[in-house]
Amino acid sequence: MAPTLGPDVVVGVIGAGTMGAGIAQVAAANGHRVLLADASASAVAKAKDGHAKAMAREVEKGKRSQAEAEALLARLSYISGVAPSDLEDFAPCGLVIEAIVEDLAIKQTLFRSLESVVSREAVLATNTSSLSIAAIAGGCQRAERVLGIHFFNPAPVMALVEVIPALATDAAVLEAGRGLVERWGKVAVVASDTPGFIVNRIARPYYGESLRILEEGIADVATIDWALRTLGGFKMGPFELMDLIGNDVNYAVTRSVFEAMYFDPRYRPSLTQRRLVESGWLGRKAKRGYYDYRDGAVAPPATEDEVLGRTIRDRVVAMLINEAVDAVQLRVASPEDIELAMTKGVNYPRGLLTWGDALGPAAVLATLESLQQEYGEDRYRPSPLLRRVAKSGGKLLP
Ligand code: NAI
Repeated sequence: MAPTLGPDVVVGVIGAGTMGAGIAQVAAANGHRVLLADASASAVAKAKDGHAKAMAREVEKGKRSQAEAEALLARLSYISGVAPSDLEDFAPCGLVIEAIVEDLAIKQTLFRSLESVVSREAVLATNTSSLSIAAIAGGCQRAERVLGIHFFNPAPVMALVEVIPALATDAAVLEAGRGLVERWGKVAVVASDTPGFIVNRIARPYYGESLRILEEGIADVATIDWALRTLGGFKMGPFELMDLIGNDVNYAVTRSVFEAMYFDPRYRPSLTQRRLVESGWLGRKAKRGYYDYRDGAVAPPATEDEVLGRTIRDRVVAMLINEAVDAVQLRVASPEDIELAMTKGVNYPRGLLTWGDALGPAAVLATLESLQQEYGEDRYRPSPLLRRVAKSGGKLLP
């Protein structure tokens, strides 16, 4: 029977950290009764406090009436000290979204235990960024009810949600998940169960190629950031963005995609970034990263050389477009969903396929071929689909 995930469904969220707290807020804002649980009492207390503050802000800004805010908070219940052996509270949930630590064995244990508590029809979702949904579902009795529902941070603000069926996921479960996410006012895109899904895969060259340009001494961080912001139209340059995300987090994502892709050189992590992580220069949160955020530090000036800037921009953008085209060819997602994912998930100034068509697929191909020839590295190999479209004179976004 197809699961129905209407507003009456009780939603369980396990893990009350950054993501779980945000997801619980989204579910409660959409009328669900929500149980938010965490092993740690302090994480639960922080999430509860965060919800109260978020509602106070929304009332103050006139986004919500006081009565609505109170009703939303009343729909949220908090459970601390939750353990896999003690999940009875989740019995009434029609949907449970897991947002605990990114550890396969711990997630598998949780899913197995959840299955013994929830009803047969209940849908089990994971918010994992980097693990395979198949692996998480693999230990379950009814793997067909497991899927990935991947929110972006902060969940109440970011429009995009990637919905990911594993090999065994029932088509009706995928549809129910997608429908629910859309009713929650989000933009849902369907991604295949491949490393990094859509956004975390296609965005890799934004960081990796910029780091490579830095390592070769072609330009410094301020100049690369300036080029991609001013000449590329990106909201943030790659280095200021890595400093915001945290170099530890960004490096871990790159490593996990690289390893999961069987060490394809296209995704190779950077030694420069590794040294920053090893030095504790994690970015804004550590007050040091590519930039110095300590009191009194002076931001380094960019060399605003348009010719150099355009070279940098074209190289990074060509790599991003190539990655998007390859994702189309390898059926990571539909071309339309790939465009939506990069514009709504990471706020790129335009969809990468659209961008490739505007530049001309032949011009993008020429940039990549020249890099491949110069370096002799497989890292720069053009996607076969890009070659085909460039040769036929067709479009990347049909
Ligand atoms: P976090 O560290 O802020 O929160 C994780 C919470 O899970 C902690 O409060 C911890 O006490 C709790 N926890 C760990 N093991 C548990 C268990 N067995 N039972 C109950 N609670 C447990 O982590 P964050 O950033 O919220 O990430 C959670 C998940 O969401 C991860 O799978 C991560 O890959 C994914 N994700 C993270 C994003 C981000 O930008 N931070 C974006 C999208 C997905």
